[in-house]
Amino acid sequence: MAEKIQYKSPVHNVNGTKKYMLTSFGCQMNERDAESLSGMLEDMGYQPTDSQSEADIILLNTCCVRETAESKVFGLLGRLRKLKTAKPDLILGVCGCMPQQEDVAKRIRHSFPFVDLIFGTHNIHELPRMIHQVQENQEAVLEVWASEKGIAENIPVRRKDKLKAWVTIMYGCNNFCTYCIVPYVRGRERSRTPEDIMREIKELVQEGYKEVTLLGQNVNSYGKDLEQNYRFADLLLDLDKIEGLERIRFMTSHPRDFDDRLIEVVAGAQKICEHYHLPAQAGSNRILKAMNRGYTREQYLELIKKIKKAVPHASITADLMVGFPGETEEDFQDTLDLVRQVRYDSAFTFVYNIRSGTPAAKMEQVPEEVKSERIQRLIELQNQISLENNQADEGKVMEVLVEGETKNNPDRLAGRTRTNKLVVFKGPLELTGSLVQVKIIKGRLNLLEGELVQ
Ligand code: SAM
Ligand code: SF4
Ligand code: F3S
Repeated sequence: MAEKIQYKSPVHNVNGTKKYMLTSFGCQMNERDAESLSGMLEDMGYQPTDSQSEADIILLNTCCVRETAESKVFGLLGRLRKLKTAKPDLILGVCGCMPQQEDVAKRIRHSFPFVDLIFGTHNIHELPRMIHQVQENQEAVLEVWASEKGIAENIPVRRKDKLKAWVTIMYGCNNFCTYCIVPYVRGRERSRTPEDIMREIKELVQEGYKEVTLLGQNVNSYGKDLEQNYRFADLLLDLDKIEGLERIRFMTSHPRDFDDRLIEVVAGAQKICEHYHLPAQAGSNRILKAMNRGYTREQYLELIKKIKKAVPHASITADLMVGFPGETEEDFQDTLDLVRQVRYDSAFTFVYNIRSGTPAAKMEQVPEEVKSERIQRLIELQNQISLENNQADEGKVMEVLVEGETKNNPDRLAGRTRTNKLVVFKGPLELTGSLVQVKIIKGRLNLLEGELVQ
């Protein structure tokens, strides 16, 4: 069971006289960490700003899952050099997954020596002390913990949304898929206690939150490291009883660990939304094995069949990858065929990208032009299915949690169905935060257009 680490409230407070700018990259877990980083900065008296030139602290919360994510940060750091020269008191920090790789931390230190603060994913709770140290000693601080030491529970949070909240239920990953860097930068699986999760969610409900998304790299293995025999299905059953909470979502599920008990629980619970994100990655058994995913194509399809039987209107989405080392045209056809069989509502599609230090980096690579041609074909197929699935929703009346007006069209409201589809429709802004019934009129590629049912 993970040890608890105490967050210490900062002694020094700038009382609103200074500003911070925080930019976060990567997955929802990083977004949630960013909410803690903001919470701590505001606990120190800093105010948020979107303007680089106004900021006294600029913090980049980074991702390294693909090279593009890293390149963005290196590019941004290059552009910040000028600002730092013009404003030497500016504190520039880089944190998150990138510095958690030793060579990358070194590269940042070497190529961007003007960066004042570098820390990783395991010691974010120490942010106030590290900032104070930079200010006091007028020298750079580099503190990356090589491995995780526990879970900090009492970090203040500044959430981005007022209706929907991210709740991390576990940290780390034990799966070591052969292409993936996450287990190296996020450490081993650690579950928060059910009491801490329940407390956080009950507080959110009191604050007016209607929906929570439980986060973890593999939420299905929640609880395996706890002393008591309490698993993800038990947590869902307990959360389903919380009064005032309307919707529960979770991600990411690992297809290998989505067992029959979990299917029974999600099918029977009131608040658990009928949307399951089940990354398949590939449709070929040979590739799935080389990826170390722990399931076969047949087992994956059997799981989808069971879910659809238990929850007939379930929406299934996935992450899919093309161009994993050794992927032949036949393997790729297996992925296309899997997509045709499952008929995902949507999918995040990725081109395999070498991550040094992972086993797949040393395997025989697929040429770039083959990868780009395959991703085009995959996206084309998935788009066609997404559109057809959305068109099949036409005429249905669906429950929508209203999130507010749409960005480009202020007289239209936007919200999501329980199946996580975006719906736009006409209605008064006062409906924001409520659950309404909307009749779907038109299914488009990325959204549904509807009419409010009075
Ligand atoms: N834990 C989740 C899972 O098992 O599916 C997702 C973790 S990862 C942050 C999100 C997605 O990034 C993965 O599902 C995978 O498709 C993709 N990904 C991870 N490593 C990658 C790599 N080296 N190249 C391309 N895509 C990658
Ligand atoms: Fe990466 Fe696999 Fe862990 Fe997901 S389950 S974070 S893809 S190693
Ligand atoms: Fe990226 Fe780290 Fe998430 S590598 S995808 S931000 S866990």
